Amino acid sequence: MTLKTNIGNDSFDSCMMNASGVWCSTVDELEALVKSKAATFVTKTATLAPREGNPLPRVHHFGPNSINSSGLPNEGIDYYLAALANFEATHPNRAFFLSVTELAEDQIETIMQRVHQSDYHGLVELNLSCPNVIGKPQVGYDFETTARILDRTFSYFDQPLGVKLPPYFDVSHFDQMAEILNRYPLTYVNSINSIGNGLVIEQDAVTIAPKQGYGGLGGAMIKQTALANVRAFYTRLKSDIAIIGTGGVTSGRDVFEHLLCGASMVQVGTALLQEGPAIFARLEEELKAIMDEYGYTSIDDFKGKLKNTI
Ligand code: SIN
Repeated sequence: MTLKTNIGNDSFDSCMMNASGVWCSTVDELEALVKSKAATFVTKTATLAPREGNPLPRVHHFGPNSINSSGLPNEGIDYYLAALANFEATHPNRAFFLSVTELAEDQIETIMQRVHQSDYHGLVELNLSCPNVIGKPQVGYDFETTARILDRTFSYFDQPLGVKLPPYFDVSHFDQMAEILNRYPLTYVNSINSIGNGLVIEQDAVTIAPKQGYGGLGGAMIKQTALANVRAFYTRLKSDIAIIGTGGVTSGRDVFEHLLCGASMVQVGTALLQEGPAIFARLEEELKAIMDEYGYTSIDDFKGKLKNTI
């Protein structure tokens, strides 16, 4: 039995990895992922300069769920490019993902140019969906701006590029965003980022400090929204745009459902934060047991094959 999968021209021995923002801010954390059963890693979303992020406390867990308003704390693009150069040198047969964004359109161009001119030629994820930067809307909810950024980026950017999207909740938004994404030679689409601007209350108070307690929701409670978005884009996008499914994964069954909806790779966020990188061994074992039960020997046997009848 194999869990091998591909994203664009890159092959991976497994179909599970971290979600950007979780266990990926420092070289030590990335190293722990490389040593785990994860297929690969994606870095914390890098900006041009290092950022401290929002005031603490900014992450709160409730059961298998979380709320965060981290605000893109990161070490800056140069740190992650240097880290990737080292990981690529020590693991020449493995592909990794670099996540990037910036807070304004012209700065997005600057960081994409910076990556383009660097020695890193691997997979890049443009984060269009962080809900936690104070005063900045999520780009992925602004269809015109998204198209303008992709037009500009693809005028020079020639390495494998994916976009991290926010969740959509209306069929017309699935349609409109898919129509835009289908114009570009994207390698993949990653659905979903956290469900932005939730509010979690304990006793009589909010649970995180920034933004009067508003933050992105993650964990088990967002799985159904994530699956709907994965399925919506899998059924609307060109077949050469792979889907990465993110959201609500706590078990092998959740991974199986993301794959069934059409994901080629599944990312783990809140549950990885709660359980640590050992989670990938557990998820792998649980997924393999389910595949065994159905008689599947590879993920291609069931990827995208969700039945529409009951
Ligand atoms: C954050 O740093 O605020 C979380 C990352 C994201 O939601 O994109």
